[in-house]
Amino acid sequence: MVLVTGATGMLGRVVMLELLNRGKKVRAIKRPSSNLKEVRKSFEYYSSENTILFNQIEWIDADLFDKKGLREAILGVEEVYHCAAKVSYDQTDYEEVNKVNIEGTENILEISKQLYVKKFLYVSSSLIFTTEKEKMIGENAAFIDGKKNTIYAASKYKADKAVCLASAAGLNTIIINPGMIIGSGNWEKSSGELLKIFMNAPYTFSGGCGCVDVRDVAKIAVELMDQNVFGERFLIVSENRKYKELSDLIKKMLGKRKSWVLPQFFLSIGRLLNIISRGSLPGLRMLTRPNIEFLTSFQRISNDKVVRMLNYHFITVEQSILFHINNFLNEKKG
Ligand SMILES: NC(=O)c1ccc[n+]([C@@H]2O[C@H](COP(=O)([O-])OP(=O)(O)OC[C@H]3O[C@@H](n4cnc5c(N)ncnc54)[C@H](OP(=O)(O)O)[C@@H]3O)[C@@H](O)[C@H]2O)c1
Repeated sequence: MVLVTGATGMLGRVVMLELLNRGKKVRAIKRPSSNLKEVRKSFEYYSSENTILFNQIEWIDADLFDKKGLREAILGVEEVYHCAAKVSYDQTDYEEVNKVNIEGTENILEISKQLYVKKFLYVSSSLIFTTEKEKMIGENAAFIDGKKNTIYAASKYKADKAVCLASAAGLNTIIINPGMIIGSGNWEKSSGELLKIFMNAPYTFSGGCGCVDVRDVAKIAVELMDQNVFGERFLIVSENRKYKELSDLIKKMLGKRKSWVLPQFFLSIGRLLNIISRGSLPGLRMLTRPNIEFLTSFQRISNDKVVRMLNYHFITVEQSILFHINNFLNEKKG
């Protein structure tokens, strides 16, 4: 039995599909408020066997803070894919981001150790690494300094450290550090939010990032677990692209005008207004110094390690955007 946390999320649902396609038994964590209808719908995009596969999932209600529920979820499980997280850059989500990402990860690690889980995969993030100007980073790059970073990256860094400690204490772990994941469903959250800005806003940002299709992240996660490469981490990106390029690709698909790049001083003025208004203007609340740095810097990531390990061929960014934006448009029509 394999357990997937964050199974209703944009990535977790595709990890489940990958496991089900390989004939594995899947138990999935959801919360009473989770939207299973939306998850079921997006299975259509990925598989012609969508209904059969969806009906094979054993759903279990558990919150990452509910140790009793987690214990029930992990009982009898050999492998855990820990995909659940709170992805937010909004300072007002500070408590929740830290609680879900750090305490939630510590809880699931603790119970996985107690119940002798054989393999544990943690979905970390490329954002736990520093950005080096004009230079590619690899798995040995320096980690971020928590204080100067977005609340999300800082929390993922602390959770990643907890996984490393569990690994040192004997749990068989694999860590993956994806760049920005391009996927379908859960559009209002996580990287879906950024994709929606690229689709709808007349502006974009001067930075860039490593990008990867959700299907590649899921496939690689499962292949690494099958190969038992414990104690290792892998950066997962297909290509490094400027936000402007991503936005232009999407706008072209939608038949819209290209977006213009927001100059850094606009963002800095917004940050000052946010400070003066003490965060009372919702549109400016996200303009903290670390968030501006995130939107205006370009983290270039090397995928050498995973390509060598699995002889892997990634879906291109163009193919990925075409596939997922089409899904978005079909969903809107339906
Ligand atoms: N998206 C990206 O670009 C990106 C890039 C790098 C790494 N990652 C990492 O990849 C993983 C998946 O991200 P995603 O984009 O799929 O996120 P997402 O779509 O926002 O999904 C988050 C998932 O976490 C679950 N969750 C949140 N709080 C929970 C709690 N307290 N207890 C139980 N479950 C909880 C949600 O369940 P509910 O249905 O109950 O809300 C949902 O299934 C995360 O670890 C994220 O940090 C994402």
